[in-house]
Amino acid sequence: MKTIERIAELRAACETARHGGQTVGLVPTMGYFHEGHRSLMRAARAADGLVVVTIFVNPLQFGAHEDLDGYPRDLAGDTAAAEAEGVDALFTPSQAEMYPEPTRTTVHVDGLTADLCGAARPTHFDGVTTVVAKLFSIVGPCTAYFGRKDAQQLAVVRRMAADLNLPVDIAACPLVREPDGLAMSSRNAYLSAEERRAATVLSSALRTAADAVGAGERDRVAITRLIEATVATEPLVALEYGEVCRGTDLAVVDPIDGEMLIAVAAQVGRTRLIDNVTITIAGAEVTTDLGVTTQESEL
Ligand code: PAJ
Repeated sequence: MKTIERIAELRAACETARHGGQTVGLVPTMGYFHEGHRSLMRAARAADGLVVVTIFVNPLQFGAHEDLDGYPRDLAGDTAAAEAEGVDALFTPSQAEMYPEPTRTTVHVDGLTADLCGAARPTHFDGVTTVVAKLFSIVGPCTAYFGRKDAQQLAVVRRMAADLNLPVDIAACPLVREPDGLAMSSRNAYLSAEERRAATVLSSALRTAADAVGAGERDRVAITRLIEATVATEPLVALEYGEVCRGTDLAVVDPIDGEMLIAVAAQVGRTRLIDNVTITIAGAEVTTDLGVTTQESEL
C-alpha cells in the first residue's frame, strides 16, 4: 500500500490505473477506522482494481462549536487497518494541500440539506459536498463507497453526483453495528462507559418504531412519538430529532409508504450520535433493514 499526500500524485495513480484497464474504487473517510469503514474498503476491494481510501478531517463540515480539534485520529492504526484490507493507496492530504487558500467555491445541494441533521448543522452538508466534489475531481471516474449509517449524506452526495453529471457511481453499503446494536462511529470513542451503555436506546427506539410499522402503523407522527417515548426512558440521551421520511429524497410523506428512512440524532453527554433504519412498505408487507452486526466485540 502506498501512502500519498499530494493531489497530483493521487490523480496520476488513478489515471495510470484506468489507462491500464482497471476500475477505481474510492472510500472517502475522516479516519479513526472501525468495522463500518473497513466494510466499505472490503466492498471496494471485491469490485475494483485500484482501491483508494482517503483520510481527511475536513474542517469545512464542522460548525464553529463542534469537535474539529478533538476529532479522534490514529494514522498508524488506520494505516495498518487499510493495509490489512488490501487497500492500494491511502490518501492523507494536509489541510494546506486540500485548501491552499480559503475556498470561495462551495457545492450546495438544495432542499435535501435543510432538515434532519441540516437543521442543527446548517453548514455541515455544504462542507461535505464541497470536499467530496474535490475528491471526485481528484480521483476521476470511479465507484465511490458510502455507508448507510449517514443516510442523509448518502442521499445528498447521490443527488450532487446526478445533478452535476459527475463520472462517479455511488455505491451504498450496509450500516454496521456493535453486537449490542449501537451504530459504529468514530465518535463512540468520546462516550464514557455509562454513556456508551445508555446510547443503545437509539437502536432500540429504531427497532421499536420499525416493529410498529411491521404491526401496521402508518402514521408518521405516531412513529415519531414512539421514538420520543423510547428515548425519554434514558435520561443520559437527549433526542435531537426522530423522523420518518422517504429514503431517496428525504421527503415527508404521511401516511408512510414505500421505502422509508427512520432516522434519529441525539446528544449523549457532549457526543452527538446518529442512527437510522430503512423500512420498505408494500401494502401489508414490511421489510426492515437495520444493517449488519459485527461479530467482533469491541466492548
Ligand atoms: P466518516 O464519518 O469517517 O465516514 C466515512 C464513511 O464511512 C461514510 O461513508 C460513512 O457513512 C461510513 N460509515 C461510518 N460509520 C459506519 C457504519 N457504522 N456502518 C457503515 N458505514 C459507516 O462521512 C464522513 O466520514 C465524511 O463526511 C466524508 C464523507 C469523508 C466527507 O468528509
